[in-house]
Amino acid sequence: MINNRDTEAEPRFYGFARKASAVLTHFICVFFTAFIAVLSRPGTSWFSWHPFFMTLAFCFLMTEAVLLFSPHASLIKKFSHKTKGRVHWVLQVLCVSCAALGLAAISYNKHLNGKPHFTSWHGLLGLFTVCVVGVQSLAALPLSYHSLAKGWSLAKLKRYHAASGLVTYLLGSGSLLLGLSSAWFTAAVKEHTWYLSALCPAFCALIIMNQVSSSYMAKKRLQS
Ligand code: HEM
Repeated sequence: MINNRDTEAEPRFYGFARKASAVLTHFICVFFTAFIAVLSRPGTSWFSWHPFFMTLAFCFLMTEAVLLFSPHASLIKKFSHKTKGRVHWVLQVLCVSCAALGLAAISYNKHLNGKPHFTSWHGLLGLFTVCVVGVQSLAALPLSYHSLAKGWSLAKLKRYHAASGLVTYLLGSGSLLLGLSSAWFTAAVKEHTWYLSALCPAFCALIIMNQVSSSYMAKKRLQS
């Protein structure tokens, strides 16, 4: 039999779990990016800029750019949707810039060392991810300048942007995970540190997937 205490404890437990996962996601964004920065020591070589800029772009900036729309995890919850949109825009421009710098650094480093380009799964998926994030950002322009997409409703554009944004985010997480499987990273850390590191992009991806799909379902419920 379910008593009153159980039904009260359940929402309280969900509330606590939501708060804890929000705090943990922000914590991962900052500390995982800082951890990779400490490990790669940006500035010590051309290569060192690559893991640093890519983690900054896809773990910190892109995660925070999406999280700010979360009703539970946003750091600017109280601000208007318009302001959130502007901050999202700035973070995404920074994300694309860091991704381009990270790609330029590794490409130049390979050129200096006379190594062939895009030969690993990480390199191939990474290149695809950087191209997709660029296209995704350009495709977002009609959200601010609606006249660029005549005949498309704003609601439809927003739905497509959220769905393709989630795919882009997952591509970024996949590229990060493959980067963590590189010879450089596996040689730099011990086994348990590797598993903990791999958990970071995986956990963030789960949180972002849950956020985007929940907001999609909520909108669908409102429409029906
Ligand atoms: C989403 C994030 C990332 C993207 C989009 C990305 C993209 C790329 C690309 C396109 C290349 C190939 C460049 C070329 O062949 O000229 C590459 C190489 C490399 N990346 Fe990343 N990277 C990311 C994150 C990381 C991280 C976090 C690490 C290390 C922890 C890393 C380590 C490496 C290494 C060691 C190489 C050289 C070996 C290879 O080509 O596989 N990357 N990356």
